[in-house]
Amino acid sequence: MCWLQTVVICFVVGAVVGGRDFPPNFKFGTATAAYQVEGAWNISDKSPSIWDSYVRRHPEKIKDMSSGDVACDSYNQWKKDVEIASDLGLDFYRFSIAWTRLMPSGFPNTVSEDGKKFYNDLIDGLLEKGIEPVVTLYHWDLPQSLQDLGGWANPLVSDWFADYARVVFSLFGDRVKTWITLNEPLIFCEIVYNTALHAPGILSVGVGNYLCNKHAMIAHAKAWRIYDEEFRPKYKGKVSLSNQILWLESETESDEEITEISRQFMVGMFSHPIFTKEGGWPPVIEKIIAEKSKKEGLSKSRLPPFTQEEKDFVKGTFDFYGFNYYTSRIVKKAKEGERIGPWPFAGASDLDIHLTVRPEWKHAATSWFYICPEGLRRQLAWLKEQYGDIEILITENGYASYDGGVDDQDRVQYYKEHLEQVLLAIEDGVNVSGYTAWTLIDNFEWSDGYRSKFGLYQIDFEDPLRKRTPRASAHYYASVIKSRSIDVDNKLTDEL
Ligand SMILES: *[C@@H]1O[C@H](CO)[C@@H](O)[C@H](O)[C@H]1NC(C)=O
Ligand SMILES: *[C@@H]1O[C@H](CO)[C@@H](O)[C@H](O)[C@H]1NC(C)=O
Repeated sequence: MCWLQTVVICFVVGAVVGGRDFPPNFKFGTATAAYQVEGAWNISDKSPSIWDSYVRRHPEKIKDMSSGDVACDSYNQWKKDVEIASDLGLDFYRFSIAWTRLMPSGFPNTVSEDGKKFYNDLIDGLLEKGIEPVVTLYHWDLPQSLQDLGGWANPLVSDWFADYARVVFSLFGDRVKTWITLNEPLIFCEIVYNTALHAPGILSVGVGNYLCNKHAMIAHAKAWRIYDEEFRPKYKGKVSLSNQILWLESETESDEEITEISRQFMVGMFSHPIFTKEGGWPPVIEKIIAEKSKKEGLSKSRLPPFTQEEKDFVKGTFDFYGFNYYTSRIVKKAKEGERIGPWPFAGASDLDIHLTVRPEWKHAATSWFYICPEGLRRQLAWLKEQYGDIEILITENGYASYDGGVDDQDRVQYYKEHLEQVLLAIEDGVNVSGYTAWTLIDNFEWSDGYRSKFGLYQIDFEDPLRKRTPRASAHYYASVIKSRSIDVDNKLTDEL
């Protein structure tokens, strides 16, 4: 007994001590998205995206009635973004391309010279500083002209997206080696159609979300296959998508089954078609929606099926798993009349569950954000268990505060606690290859406008030049990157 205790203690101590450093090839980055930082919404031949029109049609849906018209003005200030990315010592910088800036008609018959130049300059600027560009093709800013044709609810969207992807790969693939096709289809399908709280503001509960979900999976697969066949032989890059996942934990043991079903809703709907051998929808979810649809008197399930050919086409279209993590939830069976809980998510309308949070999880500065670092490690373990021993790139993780001040010890704490969980997951044997802090600079945070701040750097939105100032968290993150360890002296350095 004593012997065993000693062994256990040694093991634990050894694990903690040995586990403070990241593997030598582990990569650190930060991420942004075009609409949230670029501004310059109407310059040159750029056409409006669904966000450009949404903030005009529905200013009241943005908390401070603001827009991304100017945002961080990164379209003009991109050199400063590159400079601060370099100050941080980033291995990579993840940004997204605005479809409407590069291909104003939405189709490949128009490729904007100015759009091309902007992204070429940004990519070359990063490479000159030794920073790898990681590029997202779609971060929620669909051309309005394609929305007018039904957007993500129209099956043709997968061809429109594939054509766009081919243009992007052909222009930038010589220098960009890591690609994210779609950012968070959970949000742009489930949240959008179930709540209309984001562009394009269309409510189609239990219908639009599933059309979008299927078409997004096929759009992703088409882009991946185009890369695989036409570009990978010469460029040798990697392509995947990024899924935001809330870790879901059961309230009691008797809620374990519904919790696992909820995970299949939250994660499986955006992963099972791509990352499993059988492909297609998670069978348990397909069954639930088919039964509900039948009860509703529909002749077909609201969830459009995959044909066998489509299943085969979509499955296996990945080179790694892109994972965005912010927050967690507790799942319990809903009582009669109980609502889904603090944040609607995938399948909200089709699952009789209630989502809560533990009282000890602190609330960050936006409605849906409760802090649960352990959820990150548990979710990573679940992903490995479900989809096998694949490379996982954490493509977003970060903290929102209302306070825009620079001494952001709460954010430092968030990063520290979450990076600790990443290290523990690596010790668990999960192949996590990199970590991306969301986000480099304060920006337009969708329906929160400029109220919630996620930046390592503060932006002065009163300043026409949008001055960027490093917060304590920027100093902390720079030290982590430099030392490749979370045990860093948390003093402000002069380096930034
Ligand atoms: C672009 O939008 C701004 C508002 O953000 C407006 O002041 C300006 O006139 C517009 N420019 C053009 C060319 O429409
Ligand atoms: C992680 O995955 C990458 C890509 O497949 C592979 O090269 C690497 O060896 C893996 N690392 C571990 C520790 O399994």
